Order: sequence, then C-alpha cells, then structure tokens
Amino acid sequence: MAFTGKVAFITGGGSGMGRLAARRLAEAGVSVAAIDVNEEGLRETAGDDGRIRTWGLDVTDPRAVESVVREAESELGPIDRVLNAAAIMPTGLLMDQDPGLVNRIMDINYGGTVNVTMATLPGMLERGRGDFVNFASIAGWVPTMHFGAYDASKFAVVAFTEVLAHENRNRGVRFACVCPPPVATPLLDQAKSNPKILELIPPIKPEKVLDAIESHLEKGKLMVFPDAGARATVLLRRFLPGLTWWNVHRVEKI
Ligand SMILES: NC(=O)c1ccc[n+]([C@@H]2O[C@H](COP(=O)([O-])OP(=O)(O)OC[C@H]3O[C@@H](n4cnc5c(N)ncnc54)[C@H](O)[C@@H]3O)[C@@H](O)[C@H]2O)c1
Repeated sequence: MAFTGKVAFITGGGSGMGRLAARRLAEAGVSVAAIDVNEEGLRETAGDDGRIRTWGLDVTDPRAVESVVREAESELGPIDRVLNAAAIMPTGLLMDQDPGLVNRIMDINYGGTVNVTMATLPGMLERGRGDFVNFASIAGWVPTMHFGAYDASKFAVVAFTEVLAHENRNRGVRFACVCPPPVATPLLDQAKSNPKILELIPPIKPEKVLDAIESHLEKGKLMVFPDAGARATVLLRRFLPGLTWWNVHRVEKI
C-alpha cells in the first residue's frame, strides 16, 4: 500500500469500494473514520474492528460534514487520507427522470465531494502531507444514455479534482481521481432502467480499483483508469465521439 499515514476519512464507507478500502486500511493499522447515510452498512463495515469508527452522515449537508470531520480528527488524529466514494446512480432517460432526482444526483456525487474537500483538504495542505482520492468514473469521460444525470455529476468531479490537484501541486498532498468502468458493487443494482450497455461490459473487481489507486498514487499519476478497457474507451470517445455515440445508439436501440 502506498499509504504511510495514520488516519483515513472515507465517505461511502457503508458499502462497496468504500467498505473494502476501510477494511484494507484498518488491517494495515490505520484508524478509519467511515462515513455513510447507511448506518446498518457502516455497522457491517466496522464489524468488531476497533480501528474503524463510524459516523452516519449525509454528505450533502456542509455543516454536518464539517462537524463530523472535527469530531473524527479530535478522536482519531489529523486526517491524512481522504476517499470520497459516496455516490448514487439511479439510471433513466433524462426526460423520464424527476428534476429533483437529477439535482439530487449532482448534490450527492459532486456536492458531497465538494463539502468533504472543503472540510478536510485545508488541514492536509497546512500539514503538507496526505492522499486525496476522489471517485469519479469512466462516466465522467464518456456520456451514455440512461446515465445522463450520473454522467454530469462525474464530469463535474473530474473537472473539480483536476483543477484542485493542479492548484495545489507541490504542497505535499497526493491527488487521485478514480475513473473505473463498471465495478461489481451494490451501486450497479441502482441501474433499474435497464441500460443495455451494462450487459456488454463485465464489471471488474473492486480490489482491482483499489490496487490501481495505490499504484497511481505511488507514480504520482492523477487520473486512475484501472484497466486497459477503460483507457481505450476514453481515447475512443475523445478522438471518435461520433463512433462512440453510434455504438451507444446501436446498443440501446434509441
Ligand atoms: N460500482 C461501479 O460500477 C462504479 C464505477 C465507477 C465509479 N464508481 C464510483 O465509485 C464510488 C464507490 O461506489 P460503489 O460502487 O462502492 O457504490 P456503493 O453503492 O456500493 O457505495 C456507495 C455508498 O455511498 C453511500 N451514500 C449515498 N448517498 C450518500 C450520502 N448522501 N451521504 C453519505 N453517503 C452516501 C451509500 O449509502 C453507499 O453505501 C462512487 O463514487 C461511484 O460513483 C462506481
């Protein structure tokens, strides 16, 4: 593991990659603050591991985020790794989705990332050390039908994290923006509108994503594409967007 710090702050710690990251870090002796709205999921994450402390928290509430960060730091010590993994992914064609839901996706996936950044990063920059990891997605590079609201939120996370990393380079904090293809976690169960594209891409294992984060942090690489398929898809979209859309129309039959 590329991490030598003592305290990690993980949102989305009640499930999927946030849970796995919390357990891995705790096993490595790190004190973990696991954050989630899903308190039952948090209990399962912590199990009887005393190194994982949990806080039920909605990341869209900036005041609550600040107060949990303060509490976590006073109980565990200064945070030296942040993993922003909390997100939702209800799918649907944009005109079928309630505007409240479209905005909620942005509030959690992007707004939550912003809130946690503002509450944690200043301290890390002041101390001049730590790892700052934001979960975007390949959806933050390649927009597809049924994922419009999610895509917009992840495009926002990519832009935010890229600028953040450049504005704060050479200040001792390492940044990573994680852009996986589909990963086998409960998040995929939220794709209830049945996007056909998901049937064509077998999900990768969450372990592969977490390993890629470590290796990218070690190499000082900002954008984490955990496999060659994700990288190739992004390149195809960049240089041949028409072909990418042709394929999406063909698959979704729209
Ligand atoms: N699973 C995938 O296919 C995939 C692919 C690319 C990127 N990602 C990204 O990776 C990250 C981790 O996803 P995952 O697959 O582990 O998902 P997951 O659904 O297993 O976990 C996400 C967690 O976020 C929590 N959460 C949702 N709203 C919240 C809120 N308002 N406040 C606090 N917590 C909240 C959920 O309760 C859940 O426990 C996400 O940012 C996701 O967008 C996932």
